[in-house]
Formats: sequence, C-alpha cells, structure tokens
Amino acid sequence: MQKILVIHGPNLDLLGARETDIYGKVSLDKINKQLQSSAKEGNVSLQIIQTNHEGEIVDAIGSAPKNGVVAILINPAAYTHTSVAIRDAIAAVSLPTVEVHLSNIYAREEFRQTSLISPVSTGQVSGFGPQSYILGLKAILGLIKK
Ligand code: DQA
Repeated sequence: MQKILVIHGPNLDLLGARETDIYGKVSLDKINKQLQSSAKEGNVSLQIIQTNHEGEIVDAIGSAPKNGVVAILINPAAYTHTSVAIRDAIAAVSLPTVEVHLSNIYAREEFRQTSLISPVSTGQVSGFGPQSYILGLKAILGLIKK
C-alpha cells in the first residue's frame, strides 16, 4: 500500500481550543480520524506526525523516501512563513507535496501572506478549515495514481 506522510506543524496540537474564531472547534485528533477514513477509501496508508520543532519536520521530510513515503501532505503552520530549512527539505526529496492551511492565509495579516513552502510544493489548499486537509489528500491521491 502506498504511504503518505502527513505533517502537522507547531501549535496544531492545540486545535479545537486555539483561536477558535480562526481555526474552528475541531480537534487535531478528529481531523486525523477524518484523514484516516479518506485514506482507507483511497487505499493508501498514512504516517501522521505533529511537532512543534522545525528540525523534526526537516528530519521527517528528509527520511521520507527511505521510509517508503510516496507523497507529503503538510501544514507547516507558522513555519510556512519563516522556514528555509523546511522549504529546502521539500525541494531535496522531490516527492509530490501538498501544502494545506485551515485559514485563508492570503486574507490574514501581511506576514502570513508569504509562503516559503508554496514554490517547492505541487500545490496548496488554503481556507477551508479541516476540509483543507481532506481536499489536499484527494489531490495527492490523484497525483500518485497518475
Ligand atoms: C495555519 C496558518 C499559519 O499562518 C499559522 O501560523 C498556523 C496555522 C493554518 O492552518 O491556517 O499555525 O497554517
């Protein structure tokens, strides 16, 4: 079965309680359960991680090919706007990569409107709440079945 790496960046462990007016009341656990059920339908397996540490994200991306990962679904959270290291890791492994955001980052503060990750990603889904993840996974299913 093809394996997809799902990465949730910093503070996403607090979803459901964190700035609910922006991010909603759905917990990360619930999002992961929805992702697992879409993965089952799509006949793929997921390796899901959440970390607040940039280097752990870089390590997970860098070791993805040797772990048999065929594509990456990532919400880099605040690192979207700052991390050259995560950007370089994605460019280095050259796996199909879909960037997702719960909120529409282009409708928010100016500092959120730049993603260092988008230029090295296959595409981006932004602004659909938890559904962004499901849409992102669907996009990946299309990419890896080509
Ligand atoms: C986010 C948007 C980022 O700007 C923010 O730092 C996050 C979450 C989103 O999913 O909307 O932590 O990536």
